[in-house]
Amino acid sequence: MSTSQLPEVKSTEPNEQGYRSYSLGEFTFRRDEHFAHIDWPTGRHVMAVEPFLKALMRDIAWNFFYGTVNFDSVIGTVNHYGDVDLFAGRFNEDYRKAEIDHLENFPHDEIKATFEAMLGDWVNESFDPFAAPQETGSAYGDKSGNNMAAVTRTRVTAKRMIGMPDDELLRSDESGYTVNRMFADVDQSEPEVKVEPGYEKEVSAFSLFKYLSRSDVTWNPSVVSVCKDSLYCPTTEEFILPIIHGNDRVEWFIQLSDEIIWEVADRETGRPRANVVMKAGDCAAMPADIRHQGFSPKRSMLLVWENNSAALPGMIARGETPNVPVEF
Ligand code: PHB
Ligand code: FE
Repeated sequence: MSTSQLPEVKSTEPNEQGYRSYSLGEFTFRRDEHFAHIDWPTGRHVMAVEPFLKALMRDIAWNFFYGTVNFDSVIGTVNHYGDVDLFAGRFNEDYRKAEIDHLENFPHDEIKATFEAMLGDWVNESFDPFAAPQETGSAYGDKSGNNMAAVTRTRVTAKRMIGMPDDELLRSDESGYTVNRMFADVDQSEPEVKVEPGYEKEVSAFSLFKYLSRSDVTWNPSVVSVCKDSLYCPTTEEFILPIIHGNDRVEWFIQLSDEIIWEVADRETGRPRANVVMKAGDCAAMPADIRHQGFSPKRSMLLVWENNSAALPGMIARGETPNVPVEF
């Protein structure tokens, strides 16, 4: 007989502000009204709790994502797809030089359980970490209720392609997904499809603009089509990408509407490499050795195209495939 054991979450009793503290290996996490405090044997770090929770939310919802999720220039995780590094200062040139950086590796389920417990405890009723700034209440203050519906949200994944049988139908007012205030001008008509009899379950088309105009979250790609390892992950963006993503593979962006400004820096050191302004219709490839963060002045639509192949991070690390999709 086998017994499944839930990973242990190490936490304290609630503090004066009503929040528990959490520990993972030699890291500890504590929150008060305004801040998340992170301590490790050789250092300590403080982040405003709102950006901390927005980054934590994505790290969990995306299952630690591809490569590195930097919460800011100090704290973050590296996904090894089975286990996960939690680090402080590992990708910060000055922390490395001063030898105050710290990294510990955890089984995926253990770090996930602790992060989920922390997020559930530290997000108050008024706050939605996925919402645009003007569409949520405050993250700050003493503990007041929770928002489990918001923090347990996971990305929507198509089983085949949107519009095919089993589609979750996120494209109608009846589904509860109404047109966002910023996309009131987006055409809501669907394409007309005339299917040869017998192929009704094989052929479909849908308006991606209509679909995205109804997204109620920001900086949270959904997977709308899957073709072998090719994933189309469109998303709606407003304000700042809450993480600084360190790539472990090339990734493509197609700006579908409006504008995003990308800050691109070296993945290891954080030294600036480029500022990229992408306007509607622009296409860019992000190299495999960078970190990047996007700034979207107005809510915009972005298509992120990912290669999901598990072989890529190793091939890139071993130099078997270039860091860029094309060399000029
Ligand atoms: C990215 O890191 O490439 C990324 C993440 C989330 C988004 C858009 C881009 O919404
Ligand atoms: Fe990225």
